[in-house]
This record gives sequence, C-alpha cells and structure tokens, in this order.
Amino acid sequence: MSRKKMEELITSLENKKEKILLGGGKSAIDKQHKSGKLTSRERIFLLLDENSFEETDLFIEHRSTRFGMDEKKPPADGVVTGYGTIDGRPVFIYSQDFTVMGGSLGEMHAQKICKIMDMALKVGAPIIAINDSGGARIQEGIDSLSGYGQIFYRNTLNSGIVPQIAIIAGPCAGGAVYSPALMDYIFMIQGTSKMFVTGPQVVKAATGEEVTAEELGGAHTHATKSGVASFVSRNEEECFFEVKKLLSYLPSNNVEEPPVGERQDPVDRKNSSFLDIVSTNPNRPYNVKKIIEDLVDQDSFFEIQKDFAKNLIIGFARMNGHTVGIVANQPYHLAGCLDIDSGDKASRFIRFCDAFNIPLVTLVDVPGFLPGSNQEFGGIIRHGAKILYAYSEATVPKITVIMRKAYGGAYLAMCCRDLGADLVLAWPTAEIAVMGAEGAVNIIFRKEIEAALDAQIEREKLLEEYRQEFYNPYEAAKRGYVDQVIDPQETRLKVIRALEIFWSKRITGKGKKHGNIPV
Ligand code: HXC
Repeated sequence: MSRKKMEELITSLENKKEKILLGGGKSAIDKQHKSGKLTSRERIFLLLDENSFEETDLFIEHRSTRFGMDEKKPPADGVVTGYGTIDGRPVFIYSQDFTVMGGSLGEMHAQKICKIMDMALKVGAPIIAINDSGGARIQEGIDSLSGYGQIFYRNTLNSGIVPQIAIIAGPCAGGAVYSPALMDYIFMIQGTSKMFVTGPQVVKAATGEEVTAEELGGAHTHATKSGVASFVSRNEEECFFEVKKLLSYLPSNNVEEPPVGERQDPVDRKNSSFLDIVSTNPNRPYNVKKIIEDLVDQDSFFEIQKDFAKNLIIGFARMNGHTVGIVANQPYHLAGCLDIDSGDKASRFIRFCDAFNIPLVTLVDVPGFLPGSNQEFGGIIRHGAKILYAYSEATVPKITVIMRKAYGGAYLAMCCRDLGADLVLAWPTAEIAVMGAEGAVNIIFRKEIEAALDAQIEREKLLEEYRQEFYNPYEAAKRGYVDQVIDPQETRLKVIRALEIFWSKRITGKGKKHGNIPV
C-alpha cells in the first residue's frame, strides 16, 4: 500500500472519530452546559491525569431495528469508556453521555461498560462510573434490562476486589440506581444528581403523594435521610477533587496495601487538647471530630456520610502516613447512642476497610443502643447485629480506644476485646459497665430505695457506690478486657505503635463459603 493511501485511511479514521466525538451535537451539548452539567468527556478529562485517557469502543453501534432505531446510530452508543490514571495510578472509567439519547442504556452500551469492568478486575484497578442517564433504553426492550443485569452481576463479583466508585452527575432512575448502590461509594452533586427507584410522576400516580424530583432523590435527601450518598459536592469540579482524594487513601485492589502518605506529623506528638475537649462530667457532650483531628496526621481526616447518622462518625485518615479507618461515637448527637442508621453506616464501612486491608481505629464513648419503639419496630436488633458481625469477621488490625462511656451491648459492639480487638486502650476517664448508674441502681436496688426513710438520699448513696465500683477502666483492666490504661495525651503514640505491631498479624482460612450477615 502506498504511503498516500495510508494517509488517506488515517484521515478517514480521524474524520470518523471527530464525528463520533461530537456526541449528540452542538445543540445537545449547549443544552447540557446550560443545565449546569459538563459533557461525558469533559468530565473524564477533568478527573483523570492530563493526557492519560485512552478511549475504548468508540465505534460501537447498537443492533436494534425497532422504533426507527435502524435509522439512528447514537455516537459511541451513549457512553464513553476507557482507562487512564489518577495521580499516576491506573483507573477504569465510564461516563454516560446524556447528549446521546439521554445516555439511555441499551445492549451495546451495557456491553461497553461490562468490558471495562472486566478489564478493571483483571488488572486490579478501581472502577469509576459517571451516571447521567434516562435509564433503560426503551426502544431496546428486554436487551436493555439484560444489560443492567450484567452490570449488577459484575458489580457484585468485583465487590471487595477493586474499589468501585459511582458519581451521580444527572438522572439515575429506576433499576439503574442499583449499580451505584452495589458499588462502594456514591458521590452526589447539589442540584444535579437525581436518584430514585420510582420518579415523582409514578409516585403521584401510585400513591397520590406530590413530591419534587429534588425532594425525592436530590443530593440533600440522600445525604441526610436515606444515607445513599457517601459524599455531596457543590459542583462537578469539587466532586472530582473529592473522588481523587478518596482514591489517595485506597489500595487499587484487595491484595495491595494502601498507598503511604507523607510522614511529617511526629508520631509522639502529644494530644494535649484531649484534656480540654473531653469532660469528666459524663453528661457533658463534646465533639469527637476534634479528638479525631488531633489524633490522626494533620489534616488527614476524610469523613464519609457526614450528614447521615451523625451519632457515629466514620472516615479515612492517616496515622504516620498509613491509611486507617476511623469509627467513633459522637456524643454531640443522640449522646453517641448506636441506632439503626449508625448500625448500617458502621458495618458497611468496617467491611470495606477489612476487604481493602485498612486497619480500624475505634474511638468509644457510647451510653448504649438508642431506646424506643421506633428503633425496636425498625429492627435495631438486626441493624445493631451488623456492627457485631462486621467487627467480628474483620481480620485487619483493630485498635480500640475507650475514652469515656462504654456501656452494655454497645460496649461490645464498639470493637471490644471479645470481638477480636487486637489492643484495647482506655483513658482513666473510661466507664466500662453493663449500664449507666441511673438505670442500674433503679433495677438492682429497687427494694432498698423503696424501703429507705429518704428514698432520694438512699438513691444518691447507691448511685455513688455504683459509680465508684464501675466508672473506671480498672475493673476491666484487672480482667484483661483492657490492655493498657493510658494518659490521653499519649493516645496518638500508643495507637500508632499498636498499628505498627499488629500490621503483620495473619488470620487464615475461614473454611466456609461466606457467612450470613444480618442484612
Ligand atoms: C430512550 C430516552 C430515554 C430512555 C431519555 N431519552 N430517556 N431514550 N430511552 N429511557 C431520550 C429522549 O427521548 C430525548 O431524545 C433525549 O433522551 C433527552 O431526553 P429529554 O426527555 O429531552 O431530557 P430531559 O427533559 O432533560 O429529561 C430527562 C429525563 C427524561 C427526566 C431522564 O428523559 C425521562 O423521564 N426519561 C425516561 C426515564 C425513564 O422512565 N426511564 C426508564 C426507567 S426504568 P431526543 O431524541 O428527543 O433528544 C429503567 C429500568 C431499569 O431504567 C431496570 C434495570 C433493572
């Protein structure tokens, strides 16, 4: 073949590519921009390292012939797929193109996504899914549904092997929501993301309820009420920044260790602030985020689901450069009690950390499980059991710090020694008991209080006795439930030393297919 012919073929290739890269065309792109959204490729270019993106399956076409589909060949079939790097580390990505048939998902669109997911699994690299779609492509009927099924199947197979991150950058409705839901983290964008199983019109037809799309499935709703959103950003740029930040804490797969960050914060830096933050008065709340921020490497705490189940804080941080997962009771909300939502929040996070070799640091100040018929009817028994299960099965290093209250079943649930904590540290302010003094005295001394001349004085006396007996860490330390009672100011040093020692722990074979977590 002559060089001229070869050049002609290359020009033809470039022309074909150029046409496809226009997506739904200028007016659709303008519409996308006017609605405050970037296009599918603009999103990828912003998220990935410069010049690192390689697009796959650009020339894919659907095979549908009904409803005039044989006349239409939507460019790239409405989804941009490929791979590239973020901070130099490989990632696989797909980004639905709303300018092309509303980003709707048909057979070949799904095939492109599945191919990327399979490649990610082979390589051991994270998957990032940018969702902006009208859902199943109606014209393709059951082939569209099958496409979703194939994606869900891969989401499940890939779970626990490579991190899976979903960004909701437009509509994500109907069964389509279940792919993000099967992934590890969901990022939503204020005003842009809409996520629901049934949209406002169906809700109105079925139940008569009038609700806007934003109220039903906007970022605020899923961040505060449903807990579906792991992170909420003000705009797409902020969202991509947060995605990159999240990835910086994570290994690329389940056999790698997480990347090590900077080690500028001294290991032996004293936590002097703890003496002022935590009150010895057990009824005075404090903000546990201040404890976390001072405990971990400076500015390294990255909170997840911060507006959902605020009585329990979760997030990644670094300690001496190493990624850790933090789980902490928050006395500022519901006095730090565990409830249904915090059960779900904690257990999913613990299982993620365990799957991806991220040690767990648990900070305990918990008066118990939240009482009440709402909680019982809602299944606090099932949901609370998830925390027990998740901590018990986790084989990563587990370090527990009991700061103040650690009562009853909630003490056990917050990674006590009996659930396999590798080291339990307690401050002198720790109170480890079956329950708080008020409740305990009413039960065990009911008769004495009733018989006393002055019930009030008798009750006070017995309360004080109970407090003397149990409101300390030493009873637990005497029995080995607490390994060390420490000066709170040395918490950072002690936790880092424990993490370094227990990093090499090995727990082998469970000898079963999988357990049956009370979901
Ligand atoms: C085919 C679709 C489509 C779909 C949108 N389009 N959704 N084409 N299948 N599901 C097309 C439109 O016909 C239009 O084409 C273009 O995309 C842009 O859509 P608009 O309606 O003009 O955009 P907008 O006004 O912004 O509204 C967006 C929307 C709306 C809210 C997403 O399009 C919509 O309600 N779509 C249907 C959503 C839905 O019910 N999907 C099925 C869900 S059930 P033209 O040619 O005019 O530009 C589902 C089951 C999954 O997904 C099950 C998995 C197990």
